[in-house]
Amino acid sequence: MLRPTTDVLVQVLGLTMAHGAQLVQRDLQFDIRHGEVLAIVGPSGCGKSTLLRHLVGLQTPRAGRILYGQDDLYDADDDTVAALRRRFGVMFQAGALWSSMTVGDNVMLPMRLFGSLGPRERALQARFKLALVGLDGCFDLEPSALSGGMRKRAAIARALALDPTLLYLDEPSSGLDPLNAARLDELILRLRDHLATTVVMVTHDIDSAFAVSDRLLYLDEREKTMTALDHPATLLQHGPPTVREFLSRGRSAARLP
Ligand SMILES: Nc1ncnc2c1ncn2[C@@H]1O[C@H](COP(=O)(O)OP(=O)(O)OP(=O)(O)O)[C@@H](O)[C@H]1O
Ligand SMILES: [Mg+2]
Repeated sequence: MLRPTTDVLVQVLGLTMAHGAQLVQRDLQFDIRHGEVLAIVGPSGCGKSTLLRHLVGLQTPRAGRILYGQDDLYDADDDTVAALRRRFGVMFQAGALWSSMTVGDNVMLPMRLFGSLGPRERALQARFKLALVGLDGCFDLEPSALSGGMRKRAAIARALALDPTLLYLDEPSSGLDPLNAARLDELILRLRDHLATTVVMVTHDIDSAFAVSDRLLYLDEREKTMTALDHPATLLQHGPPTVREFLSRGRSAARLP
């Protein structure tokens, strides 16, 4: 079994993010390590989804840099950025599927746009990705035939379409019942342990963050910067008071040891 290593995949250096005149977060400094699950948590509105948009190249930093290896995501040529983007899969918070296409076509879309497989292989791969998220048999369905939780999982299957080395997930377990949330945790651990996928997961689900993450990054809404980055259990014991309170309140009694 592959274990997390300390190889750095991404370096976030002095990142400041803003929407117009509104500062969202400043001076973020952290790395994303090969083979880890990094959870990004913090109160609603603190800037988690904004950070994800910056990490995938959709929103330009107000200040600072995001390096993938030696390449600056916001200062590299178009070909380099396109090649970088092909290495990661993204599921946004809204996780929308195209309603005009079947579930299978949704999952195959990134393969059609960016992959090199023929139609038969694309269909095989899409069925495999759907099976991974527990949606075998949904290939030919319209998205409207799926429940909210199933749509979420289909969006995760689409994010996995190109076998990403780095998977970004924004609130993957929201809207899932406890059983499916636990299954999602298992899927994330399987991706990490068997496929060496690095996973960056924004989540409100503190139980899930404890179950799967190697490190947890806390974005403080008052300080407007990160105030903790460490193993979740370490932060629960020794983190700053706000972080300890946030984590202990977020843990449900059901999953406490
Ligand atoms: N497109 C936008 N234009 C202007 N302001 C925005 C935009 N998107 C987000 N914001 C603001 O930026 C701040 C951070 O929003 P963001 O969506 O990143 O928070 P979040 O931590 O993901 O919240 P949640 O946990 O509710 O998803 C909020 O104050 C929000 O109102
Ligand atoms: Mg969000």
